Amino acid sequence: MKSCKLSWSLVAILCLVVAVFAYKFTAGEVQPSTDGRQEVKLTKDERNALLLEMRKWLQSSQAILAATSKQDFVLVANAAKASGMAAEADTPGSLFRKIPLEMKKLGFDTRQKFDEIAADAETLKDAQHTMTQLSTAMNNCIACHAIYRFAENVE
Ligand code: HEC
Repeated sequence: MKSCKLSWSLVAILCLVVAVFAYKFTAGEVQPSTDGRQEVKLTKDERNALLLEMRKWLQSSQAILAATSKQDFVLVANAAKASGMAAEADTPGSLFRKIPLEMKKLGFDTRQKFDEIAADAETLKDAQHTMTQLSTAMNNCIACHAIYRFAENVE
């Protein structure tokens, strides 16, 4: 009986640990911001890494537009790939639990959209199609910026 009680306590503790992790993963480390958005609390290095990523996304978007206007689809594909899933390797792992689920989804979806732009540029070579794809991808930029900002957490 004693060992039975012990194993139930273990199950309860494990459930609690899983629940805490699940909550952290979903909610992230956020606090309300003074401008009505949600502030994601990051260290200086994490914030700098994400802002660098952001500037790369802006650069890719411009490069895709410039290459599309010249019908250079090799360049379109290269510019889009620079911001695709492969570039996720540059993202610090510590961000995984700090970024709320909704933001993670928007971030991954944006990377996938850049990969789709690259793949379609290589196969379809259709400027109109690329522009529509980029415009749709950029709705993610707008959506995320409307909800979130980054705060440097002094620890
Ligand atoms: C998943 C959320 C998310 C998505 C998607 C997103 N951003 Fe951002 N971006 C942010 C946040 C948060 C900031 C910081 C804003 C703040 O702190 O006020 C930011 C900041 C930036 C900055 C400022 C960088 C700096 O050095 O200060 C640029 C440029 C930028 N984003 C471009 C883009 C572009 C272009 C896209 C779409 C291709 C995009 N972002 C998509 C969340 C996102």
